[in-house]
Amino acid sequence: MPSLVGLLLLTAVVSAQGHSFDPREATISSTHHSLYTGLTTCREVVSSFLSRIEALNNHTNAIISLNPHALAAADACDAQLQSNNGSFGALFCIPTLLKDNYDTAELPTTGGNLALKNSRPSLEAPVVTALKKAGAIIMGKANLHELALEGLSVSSVGGQTINPYDTTRTPGGSSGGSGASIAASFSVFATGSDTVNSLRSPASANSLFSCRPTRGLISRKGIIPISYTQDVIGPIARSVEDVATALTVMSSIGYDAADNATALAPPGIQGTDYTTSLKQGSLKGLRIGLLEGFFNRTASSETTPVNQAMANVTAKLRLAGVTIVPITESLYNASAVSAQLDTQRYEYRQEMDAYLQRPSLEGQHPETLEELYATPPGNFLVIPSQYEYVSTSLISSTSNATYAAVQAGIRNLTLALRATFAANNLDAMIYPEQKNLVVPIGSASQSGRNGILAALTGTPVVTIPIGFSPASATAPEGVPVGMELLGLPWTEAKLLQMAYQIEAMGRIRRTPKFAQQVVEVKQYEAVPSVRPNAANIPNAYPVGVL
Ligand SMILES: *[C@@H]1O[C@H](CO)[C@@H](O)[C@H](O)[C@H]1NC(C)=O
Ligand SMILES: *[C@@H]1O[C@H](CO)[C@@H](O)[C@H](O)[C@H]1NC(C)=O
Ligand SMILES: *[C@@H]1O[C@H](CO)[C@@H](O)[C@H](O)[C@H]1NC(C)=O
Ligand SMILES: *[C@@H]1O[C@H](CO)[C@@H](O)[C@H](O)[C@H]1NC(C)=O
Ligand SMILES: *[C@@H]1O[C@H](CO)[C@@H](O)[C@H](O)[C@H]1NC(C)=O
Ligand SMILES: *[C@@H]1O[C@H](CO)[C@@H](O)[C@H](O)[C@H]1NC(C)=O
Ligand SMILES: *[C@@H]1O[C@H](CO)[C@@H](O)[C@H](O)[C@H]1NC(C)=O
Ligand SMILES: *[C@@H]1O[C@H](CO)[C@@H](O)[C@H](O)[C@H]1NC(C)=O
Repeated sequence: MPSLVGLLLLTAVVSAQGHSFDPREATISSTHHSLYTGLTTCREVVSSFLSRIEALNNHTNAIISLNPHALAAADACDAQLQSNNGSFGALFCIPTLLKDNYDTAELPTTGGNLALKNSRPSLEAPVVTALKKAGAIIMGKANLHELALEGLSVSSVGGQTINPYDTTRTPGGSSGGSGASIAASFSVFATGSDTVNSLRSPASANSLFSCRPTRGLISRKGIIPISYTQDVIGPIARSVEDVATALTVMSSIGYDAADNATALAPPGIQGTDYTTSLKQGSLKGLRIGLLEGFFNRTASSETTPVNQAMANVTAKLRLAGVTIVPITESLYNASAVSAQLDTQRYEYRQEMDAYLQRPSLEGQHPETLEELYATPPGNFLVIPSQYEYVSTSLISSTSNATYAAVQAGIRNLTLALRATFAANNLDAMIYPEQKNLVVPIGSASQSGRNGILAALTGTPVVTIPIGFSPASATAPEGVPVGMELLGLPWTEAKLLQMAYQIEAMGRIRRTPKFAQQVVEVKQYEAVPSVRPNAANIPNAYPVGVL
């Protein structure tokens, strides 16, 4: 039960805002506090986020579709509240957005690709079922880089998602619609997927936290795939506690025969409640490796803010009693590792063909990756010839002789990483998610990112906001900078504890300027439809031209 002081404080906030629920920067616990003290209803919570999406989505173009059943789900929560019927799930009435590569039965799952515009899974992903069972309200689907194949977050269904902090920049990606939505308080948290960088780049570029879990912690069934070796899924949120709560629910599925990587989890790990031990951590005495090879030390307006933000956080960590251990091995070179060991070019076609051929996939859709790319011009945006790994994937497979050598190289890299941890007695490693600020709209790629190390080794990473570039005309709050905190497999609980302590060292996150405004809450009869602006695709992307 909330304390009297908590209630009084909340009442003060309520009268100051003139609203009984303020969705801006709302957390799971602040939402539950308002609901369980009778200050608001679930319908009002959901309506307040819908109102923000309707009023503000054009600033960022983050949303692809809204769930027509969201208000009915809210009413069901209110009925449960009124009858005080049973216990409320960890995500009871928590507005949640899904990256549009998560299968849902009530909405198409497009991957942002026009060829999948009408693709209708009849079965939802097990992780979506787990979220709903815990009470989450699925608000709708967020834009992504088409089929999650790049980090710019532009797609033929959704157009270009714009960074909420800087109108000239991309929001990172590929889960860029998820990141932009949460930065703008379009819901309490969102989900993403990560094949190389895709949960971490949008967290970094939108001043958010995310968790890329250990491969095998969460079943990937029902997520549009790219790579059996590298794909994982996880949450993006505005606080460590919300990431921990969402991760607890998402990983509660446990072993899933449909994704045999889930058999890798040690007994009991998948039932962990990542929230219980958050406050018990301490940074004092920890040893954290700093990956020197993951920086660009050439000074420029794009790199200096990143290097300064990293210098700021390492100084604070030292003050908190952490020993920072410089790691200088030449092995840790993200571009070299990525060029040698990325598996997408071998695994993509097989994974995608299997996804497209499931009998449960209804609606009009291609049956194979080859057919997807053979559809008439205008249906896709990531042109295979634009990316060597996509065009190679159309001819190559896991039976390619090089694939075995790549897998051997990954085993070697994984062992080398563990050896670095052991030799230096490390608790974790840190480095910037991206060596430079998130790139401008119209760039050819989201260059400078460091996600490949965790992607290949299957290790967990919590992404943490650590600073901002100086403000500018297009970025009134500055451009966010994020850090990766990487640990050994299955150490999510420890990483989240550390992230919680780092978060407590002082608030870094800022709200984007346009998202600071109060939006009047509408009384909805039905969920509105939000049309993504698919016309704002930069010239660098000539849709469908081969
Ligand atoms: C978004 O739409 C509102 C209302 O139509 C308008 O006032 C505002 O200028 C638009 N903003 C942008 C960035 O397009
Ligand atoms: C209590 O909730 C359960 C599931 O949420 C529902 O099946 C049941 O009908 C509810 N009972 C009452 C009395 O509302
Ligand atoms: C695990 O699943 C993958 C993809 O479905 C499959 O290719 C592989 O053979 C399976 N491995 C085992 C040992 O069952
Ligand atoms: C490092 O940053 C500089 C300045 O922004 C840039 O010109 C250079 O291309 C970057 N180097 C690499 C390897 O990305
Ligand atoms: C990292 O690898 C790339 C090749 O992918 C190379 O050009 C670069 O010089 C390497 N960086 C360092 C610091 O060795
Ligand atoms: C095998 O993989 C290599 C390296 O990616 C690629 O260049 C080649 O085209 C592939 N060949 C076949 C037959 O798949
Ligand atoms: C294995 O990793 C080590 C560095 O840790 C490197 O020297 C060696 O060349 C690698 N071997 C293979 C086969 O990749
Ligand atoms: C680093 O910290 C200083 C002092 O608090 C602050 O002024 C500066 O903006 C920070 N730099 C970044 C990039 O966040």
